[in-house]
Amino acid sequence: MPAKKKFLLSASILSANFACLADQIRESEVAGVDWLHIDVMDGHFVPNISMGPFIVETCRKISTLPLDVHLMIEAPERHIESFAKAGANWISIHIENNNNVHRTLQEIRSLGCKPGVVLNPGTPAAHIASVIDIVDLILVMTVNPGFSGQKFIPKMINKIAEVKEMIKTANSQALLQVDGGITAENLPEVYRAGAQVIVSASSIYQHPQGIASGIKALRSAV
Ligand code: DX5
Ligand code: ZN
Repeated sequence: MPAKKKFLLSASILSANFACLADQIRESEVAGVDWLHIDVMDGHFVPNISMGPFIVETCRKISTLPLDVHLMIEAPERHIESFAKAGANWISIHIENNNNVHRTLQEIRSLGCKPGVVLNPGTPAAHIASVIDIVDLILVMTVNPGFSGQKFIPKMINKIAEVKEMIKTANSQALLQVDGGITAENLPEVYRAGAQVIVSASSIYQHPQGIASGIKALRSAV
């Protein structure tokens, strides 16, 4: 975490205008986002279908920012190599859908990427206890995954604090990320609970005054 920054901002391109994706990404980069968050959905693990390795490859060509790939797919172990090859820096998988999550996280690291584990709103924090020492990122979902533009679930504040405590107790260096429904209004509370990496799609790409204003509003919220 850079000393001056209170939190890292990972811009989810799910709400970007894909007709001019390169411009939107450049604008976010100039306005100071730290990472690009790429939401991969397969229509099985979540009800929506979004993007695959090709988009990651495209982002890699457009930007030098770290690419934070969030896999919301069945059998993620089948696809991690393609995402690593496409240029992903971080690859996060859900704890819910993989019986071999420990092995998959190790494989992500062996492919040269940083492994992350994700908790859905309905999954207790304790479920990640046995992988906390092998991940670089823990993502607490603050909406049910599948779509951008959903409402933040306030009860997740307690879970963010609980995961923060688990990270401390484990003496882990893993970053705590939150994703879903983040706005300039709820960000202070999310930050106080311990979040270090904030994902946002709509508050950036759907901001009525444009991308730079959205980023500025989030940055100045804390
Ligand atoms: C939800 C995705 C999120 C989503 C966030 O399934 O994982 O990354 O794009 O969108 P907002 O910030 O609009 O809730
Ligand atoms: Zn996401």
